[in-house]
Amino acid sequence: MKPFVLFLAFFGSFSAPQSGVQAQAEQFRPQFHFTPERNWMNDPNGLVFYEGEWHLFYQHNPYGDKWGHMSWGHAVSRDLVHWEHLPLALAEDDGIMIFSGSAVVDWKNTSGFGRNGKPPLVAIYTGHREGRQDQRIAFSNDRGRTWTKVPGPVLDLHMADFRDPRVFWHDATSRWVMAVALPNEKKVNFYTSPDLKQWKYAGEFGPAGATGGQWECPDLFTLPVEGGGRKWVLIVNINPGGPVGGSGTQYFTGKFDGKRFVADAGVKGIRWADYGPDFYAAVSWNDVPKSDGRRVWIGWMSNWLYGQDVPTSPWRSAMTVPRELMLRRTPDGLRLVQKPVTELKKLRPPSPLRFGGGTFADAARWLAAHNDLPPQMDVEMSFSDVTGKAPFSVNLQTAPGESTSLAFDPARNRLVLDRTQSGQTGFHRDFSGRYDAPLRISNGDVRIRFLLDASSIEVLAQGGETSLTALIFPAAGSRGLTLASDGATPYVSAITIHALTALTQPSN
Ligand code: FRU
Repeated sequence: MKPFVLFLAFFGSFSAPQSGVQAQAEQFRPQFHFTPERNWMNDPNGLVFYEGEWHLFYQHNPYGDKWGHMSWGHAVSRDLVHWEHLPLALAEDDGIMIFSGSAVVDWKNTSGFGRNGKPPLVAIYTGHREGRQDQRIAFSNDRGRTWTKVPGPVLDLHMADFRDPRVFWHDATSRWVMAVALPNEKKVNFYTSPDLKQWKYAGEFGPAGATGGQWECPDLFTLPVEGGGRKWVLIVNINPGGPVGGSGTQYFTGKFDGKRFVADAGVKGIRWADYGPDFYAAVSWNDVPKSDGRRVWIGWMSNWLYGQDVPTSPWRSAMTVPRELMLRRTPDGLRLVQKPVTELKKLRPPSPLRFGGGTFADAARWLAAHNDLPPQMDVEMSFSDVTGKAPFSVNLQTAPGESTSLAFDPARNRLVLDRTQSGQTGFHRDFSGRYDAPLRISNGDVRIRFLLDASSIEVLAQGGETSLTALIFPAAGSRGLTLASDGATPYVSAITIHALTALTQPSN
């Protein structure tokens, strides 16, 4: 298979004869976000780094552009930016669908599946059929290219809903740990194993935090705290019952001793990883080398409310950009901080457009003079002296009367994304909306970065402390940015606009 299919598929839409409907749909094909070549995708699965490759498996229907026949699709990347599509890794068979799960490098060959002194990759997934979900394993001896399923479950509670095993090697106790969701009980159970085959119950967590839907796709890892130290973080995806309805991702910080997770004392309320409608099933890569040291995750950039109806073809769904995770100490406790992986910077051309600072009106004039922007952008803006100022907004203009706006309210410490006028919204009644996120303002400064692709916007504010991800389906053509305010305005310290044109170049 050829690398850069993402790019080729997009340009193919111009060179190949096709109907107007198809051309219009391909217009929404993201340029720097991962999409399947064809058909349906949901959760990222089996994220593992091995021999220089970041593996991305994903929930995939090989036969259609709606959910069904769940199998694991597969792609690899050497830089988290360019993805190479590979053949289907694990296919539904015997009426058993391959639901979400994880993958590990079994470095010590505890499973005995290794060959020729090389560790196997082992995938741990949920086998699904009507009325029953159990945990199963498969292994690969050829860098994930082909897989052998081990017959029968390795963990079965005879339950209809028991899924999404997240397995990792726990150094302190020298054994494998599995975090797996009991969706309806709103619990995560923990199991331990010496060999990935025999699993023993160790502890459980929940209900806690957001419990308004099924708990799914847990993850558990340590993160560095800015300024020093490390902390355990438990991720619990929930659907419905997310921050804006439908799907959402929450997290807990705490302690984990290899058996039990105990959330930090005094943690009240819910902490969301993202306040937008389109961030779900986010999980992180296993086995990232110590020399790299990052915790990187990726989410399904959609929502179960309307994900099967978005106006794209011949594929449906994209992933978010991969993001590096950290924790930050704030007056309200530890907060998750996300940063698009630095590798994405290689898509920035050498000379961005730069506004070096001035009044709000100066900045608005500068933006008006640069109103022919491309559909793929990485934009950074910083405002100062916002305290006591009126609400202000940054608007992405995509056609006459069509815009997506980001409004900042210094008095309420909020950031609101409005996609009610963002383009096509009528394909599902739950799509159009405004999404409100907390914005912690210190010293009167507001810093935002947003990544704009053909059909999405990912907003990271205050150095990644607030994340808001949303799909949009705007008209084709150039984009403009405008600033608006009804009252006293803040100072604009800087604007940098990187037109992300570099993806059309082969990677090196
Ligand atoms: C989350 C989820 C998982 C399940 C998979 C099925 O989006 O519902 O819990 O394993 O999708 O495709």
